[in-house]
Amino acid sequence: MCGIMGYTGTLPAVPIIIKGLEGLEYRGYDSAGLGVIKAGEISVYKTQGSPEKLWNTVPENLISSVGVGHTRWATHGAPTAQNAHPHLSPDGLFTVVHNGIIENFAALKSELEEQGYIFNSETDTEVVAYLLEKEYKGDVKSAITNVLTRLEGSYALGILCNDYPDTIFCAKYSSPLFVSLESDGGYIASDVSVLPKNAGKIYKIGDKEIGILSKDELKVFDIDGCRIRKTEIKVRDIKNLEGKGEYAHYMLKEIYEQPQAVEDTLESIIVNSRIKLNTLRLTKEKIKRINRIEFIACGSAYHAGAVGAYIAQKLMGIPCEAYIASEYRYSNPVPDENTLAVIISQSGETADTLAALREAKRHNAKIVSIINAPLSTIAQESDSVILTKAGKEVAVATTKAFSAQLVVIYALCTRLAYSSGKINKARYSELIEQMKNLPEKIREILKNDREYKALADELKDINYTCFIGRGVDYCAAMEGALKLKEVSYTHCEAYAAGELKHGTISLIEQGTPVVAVAAQSSVSQKTVSNIRECKARGAKIICIGNENSFTPDADDKMLLIPQTEDLFKTSLTVIPMQLIAYYTALNKGCSIDKPKNLAKSVTVE
Ligand code: AGP
Repeated sequence: MCGIMGYTGTLPAVPIIIKGLEGLEYRGYDSAGLGVIKAGEISVYKTQGSPEKLWNTVPENLISSVGVGHTRWATHGAPTAQNAHPHLSPDGLFTVVHNGIIENFAALKSELEEQGYIFNSETDTEVVAYLLEKEYKGDVKSAITNVLTRLEGSYALGILCNDYPDTIFCAKYSSPLFVSLESDGGYIASDVSVLPKNAGKIYKIGDKEIGILSKDELKVFDIDGCRIRKTEIKVRDIKNLEGKGEYAHYMLKEIYEQPQAVEDTLESIIVNSRIKLNTLRLTKEKIKRINRIEFIACGSAYHAGAVGAYIAQKLMGIPCEAYIASEYRYSNPVPDENTLAVIISQSGETADTLAALREAKRHNAKIVSIINAPLSTIAQESDSVILTKAGKEVAVATTKAFSAQLVVIYALCTRLAYSSGKINKARYSELIEQMKNLPEKIREILKNDREYKALADELKDINYTCFIGRGVDYCAAMEGALKLKEVSYTHCEAYAAGELKHGTISLIEQGTPVVAVAAQSSVSQKTVSNIRECKARGAKIICIGNENSFTPDADDKMLLIPQTEDLFKTSLTVIPMQLIAYYTALNKGCSIDKPKNLAKSVTVE
């Protein structure tokens, strides 16, 4: 979950690298640095905090046309300038930036320390620079090859060597790395979105491949030293970040982009009122043989998967379960060739999710991924990919991508149920119509923005909140709690409404706010009983539901949402909770788009 950027060409490298790192901040922003070669010598500058601080750290008169940079989310060692990348070899010959985790770095570091090497940082990356010095006999490619054979874990590496002052060396395993060749030079980056807007030839470096980039040529070799002919990847539209526009934060902008994100996603999968998942490579016969569906993801994507599990099990009548990806491998999963594993990820690079995908694949499960990043590693390793059309999501707290994931899940479950004969044409058509109405209903809810802001103002000084719900309302409650936690640092938790009385209700006291999602007509009255249990202990209720869900007392609040299919209610109930989280964070002066300790893409386990 770091970002690397590099440039070698005819232009000044420093501004290109810093601007690239600013575009990669979503991958981590607790420290940053860059190294450039000038007159055969490396100059390195590092700072704690986000990449923009490099503008004041790097001397303005430092002119160089070759360099690498890095923006960090700390995995090994505190987020300090000392631990920021780049890291140098002891003789200063090699400069390294790295995204990923060298899992065996401790053993390698001990081995080097026993040989007399002294380290300057707490990072795993510094080991790579030291090993390069050890292995270097004049040929950088063979030194890199030898080092890679020692490394376990994940890496995207950008490497400079003073002996080759116009060249960037790169290598990768599991972490993403892209290269582009332009008229002004060559670029390396962790994400295509920071490559030049009119990107020319773009290449994705493959696992265990080594790239040698000069200003007008890229040579790629496999681990055996054989030259590889790379094919360009077509990135039709690297949508430029048109900035926040009139919004104060990307999070608010992206909350308001949800109707369009949902509409664009639905238009890409529903044609003439039929679900067209053209990229779902499953025949009707294969669909009929599916006897188990596993939804696997992390964080908000997991909450979307939990909705999927409820819906799929309801519509198909087969065992369907949602798994937290980092737990999947340890749950002794038992998928087989008749299991459909639905992998959900906005970034497509989440290491925990990728690891779970590989585990499910090892058991011959069919892998369908729901992804917002078509060129991502998860997309590349899936049997089928269904793209969300949320557009680039900048805020670390996901909103529009989450909403887009939900509608893909609704369409997938509906299509699977219909193709396997579990629902009839009438129910199939009804569900499609309900999906198509969601964007307008989300727009309607967004009009109540002021109401949610006023509510957030009342909640400003809370130190604990509980979110409750049943079924997909519980999934929405989980997402609402995560939003409030991650952007406003407010302690809160989500509980299955019926479970509260089995312990946690002991935390409810006079004035404790309880957000009760009671939108599903099938279970809302049960949830209302749980609301009453909370009220009997002094809770202040914020209920999200329909008119007949709950009759609030004076100090309670009823947030009404439009009617829709019960199974799709999460798409609507989540909106007020997103805005309450946003405004609570605003009131508390939090760093809303880049919350502390977080990163947008968690590419380490
Ligand atoms: C959501 O607001 C969080 N930022 C986080 O939980 C995120 O959903 C999770 O890390 C999964 O990311 P992915 O969708 O890119 O795999």
